[in-house]
Amino acid sequence: MSAVRLPDFPWDSLGPARARAAEHPGGAVDLSIGTPVDPTPTLLGEALAAAADAPGYPTALGTVDARRAAAGWLSRRLGVQLADPLGAVPSVIPTVGSKELVALLPTLLGLSGTGTVLIPEVAYPTYEVGAVVAGLQVLRTDTPPADPGDAVLVWLNSPGNPHGRVLTDDELRAWAAWGRTHGVPVVADECYVELGWDGVRPRSVLHPDVAGPDHTGLLAVHSLSKQSTAAGYRAGLLSGDPALVRRVWEVRRHLGLLVPTPVQAAMAAALADDGHVDAQRERYRSRRDRLAPAVRAAGARIDHSEAGLYLWVTRDEDCWATIDWLAGLGIVAAPGSFYGPAGSRHVRLALTATDERIDAAVERLTS
Ligand SMILES: Cc1ncc(COP(=O)(O)O)c(C=O)c1O
Repeated sequence: MSAVRLPDFPWDSLGPARARAAEHPGGAVDLSIGTPVDPTPTLLGEALAAAADAPGYPTALGTVDARRAAAGWLSRRLGVQLADPLGAVPSVIPTVGSKELVALLPTLLGLSGTGTVLIPEVAYPTYEVGAVVAGLQVLRTDTPPADPGDAVLVWLNSPGNPHGRVLTDDELRAWAAWGRTHGVPVVADECYVELGWDGVRPRSVLHPDVAGPDHTGLLAVHSLSKQSTAAGYRAGLLSGDPALVRRVWEVRRHLGLLVPTPVQAAMAAALADDGHVDAQRERYRSRRDRLAPAVRAAGARIDHSEAGLYLWVTRDEDCWATIDWLAGLGIVAAPGSFYGPAGSRHVRLALTATDERIDAAVERLTS
């Protein structure tokens, strides 16, 4: 295989801002990377330990328990009914977290070669990585183009990273209809779907109000990383159109892209329990309720951010000027330009810091 040209890995360019923020007497408040910091709920660890005796290989299909719990969670929390989650042709499979699935999906669907992957204007960088790995082009657009050109796949992300924007039912329906008309699979990355604020309830692309009576041409990606504070477990899900899930599953079997059996047991336990998700959402809500007014009090504006784990902040200036301003206060943010040219006048502040660090940020922004 020839070497592929991946996009730059930009985080190193934050080095000077990190160094400046670290000079603050109270130390840096790093809100640049959205990695969870709260303890993983004990029910996951207990289920993991109880399944520690795992001499045999797991299957790419996933355990019956994990698939049943996934279907139950999708139904209970998102109003999604899978075709036949325990059937021979799967409508849900476990993934090793969602990042590998995002990066490999064009390849696993057999789309490598020529064609274009449509991704949001401002987007999680791995959608582009996955297109590049499969030798495909990328088009950034938030609306279905009149001319489908050589589109082979659409990525939606709602709630979106980095801006926390939630797509309306009309927007989701427009994409689903467009994809079906042109025979292009539409995949929604919904890894923040449990984290809506101020009454916002993000909708799954697989909900009957969007998808209609079946999931033809549609896939959804979910993750336990944020909702169950378990990024270290690497636990995710792919669900939707059984014909598409099957294509992905068949290649994953050959590649050995298998979720360890104890992790699948932890997934099953987590997906069957809403209490820990609700408790974690309240933790993030409380941090958001403290940080957002402080950002505004300091003269910045917050756009979108109605769901998900980030505040999308602007001072109507180049993002690097905002990064410098925040670094001077001892706060590290992620420049919006990391997520596409249309993000270049925003920065992203993550809510994934301890209460103590969020309070420190609030104090610095308001004094
Ligand atoms: C939009 C989006 N999709 C997917 C992922 C990958 O998450 P994970 O691999 O932990 O499931 C992230 C991680 O931050 C993300 O922001």
